[in-house]
Amino acid sequence: MANSIGNGYSFATWTTFIAESQIRALLKYKVKYYFAGGKPGIIPTDVFANIMGDLSANYKKNPRLALEDLNYGPTGGESWFLRTLAKRLHDVRDIPIDPQTQWDHVSITNGSQQAIYALLDTMIDPGDVIITPSPAYLGFLSPAEKLGGRVITIPTDLDGIIPEEVEHAVEVSKQKFGKCPDIIYVVPDSDNPKGTTLPMKRRQALFDIAEANDILLIEDSAYAEIQFKKTPKAIKTLDKENSRVAYLGTSSKEAAVLRVGYSVLPSDVREQVLKDKGYLDLCTTTLVQRILDEYYTNHIDDAMRAGIPKYKIRYEAMAKAIDASFPPGVRTDPTGGFFIWWQSEDKKFDAREFMERVAIPNDLLYVPGTPFYPQNGHRLTKDNKDVRPSLPEHNTMRLGFSYAPPDIIAEGIERLGKLLSKELG
Ligand SMILES: Cc1ncc(COP(=O)(O)O)c(C=O)c1O
Repeated sequence: MANSIGNGYSFATWTTFIAESQIRALLKYKVKYYFAGGKPGIIPTDVFANIMGDLSANYKKNPRLALEDLNYGPTGGESWFLRTLAKRLHDVRDIPIDPQTQWDHVSITNGSQQAIYALLDTMIDPGDVIITPSPAYLGFLSPAEKLGGRVITIPTDLDGIIPEEVEHAVEVSKQKFGKCPDIIYVVPDSDNPKGTTLPMKRRQALFDIAEANDILLIEDSAYAEIQFKKTPKAIKTLDKENSRVAYLGTSSKEAAVLRVGYSVLPSDVREQVLKDKGYLDLCTTTLVQRILDEYYTNHIDDAMRAGIPKYKIRYEAMAKAIDASFPPGVRTDPTGGFFIWWQSEDKKFDAREFMERVAIPNDLLYVPGTPFYPQNGHRLTKDNKDVRPSLPEHNTMRLGFSYAPPDIIAEGIERLGKLLSKELG
């Protein structure tokens, strides 16, 4: 069904019910105190400058290599880069693939965002059911709804998604919608937006639910390398047969935003996802794979050793300033990642309206919580027997500590705290 508009052409129906990404909309504001997008503020720029300098000299000496690197490549990524990533995934994150013989289980996409889109595109027909935490990464929710997925949102606490509620949702989905969910989506390490980390027991429980019901579990590990302390093992470590978990990683947070995501997908899923990627972009730029290959082979450990303590200082500056200056509410206490989630005690507080009226004129930007809830999603009723429309919590905000330096964070959060206290009494 197409949606006619006035100029002779017509847009597809989804354009009428999917709003512009709130984060993209916020990019137009230039403020002093930027706590909005998940932009990395600590990038080893000198390392990348050196890699690019060496590469440039190498290309001058070796035009045949340059010709290959400036050309089209395999849709799923260059084999030399897949081998490098397979080794790191195996050695550092315990992902159960043999880097010698199973490196081709790894795939490259244009950012992990493309992997999310292609996974949804290959798994979801209109009316299919998807389980997400409440709140959830909006870059997952919007494509899920665009493709006609029915999202059931699951309550979260300070340890993330609650597996017992997921079990209820699977049953309700079977009874109310006549089908089992196709996907469970989680960000186990320092979630976006809440910053919470799933304990091992919950990881195991989610894996067991997915196994028992033949559901694809998407483990989005965007923040797995940005951790202030040791986190539980990836859910993917439980998936010895590579048949249940779609594991997604990204260079965006741990390297630089070169639009390179990497994934380990069950073979049949990988085949479909790469088919889709072939139509989306043919392939990912070989040149950026070459740059990142050198980074992941020789520099990432030093870069992480230097970078993570800096992110921790930013997090501490933000947490301290919230505790000292915000009115009554609850904040999460992340052990990594980029975000703190804050919820006002005042249920009537509208973080979006406040941002437009008060925060932006005061040079402050955050992301109000509402975009992290689906537009047409469902939640379980209290007795876990039925669903109702999901409820966005307007009194919430996501505060990103990754981009601004610590002194700006301390100053800006204190300013925001004073404004909030004045507003909320
Ligand atoms: C949880 C999560 N997944 C995926 C992405 C997309 O990352 P990219 O496409 O840059 O790899 C982001 C970016 O903010 C994210 O926070």
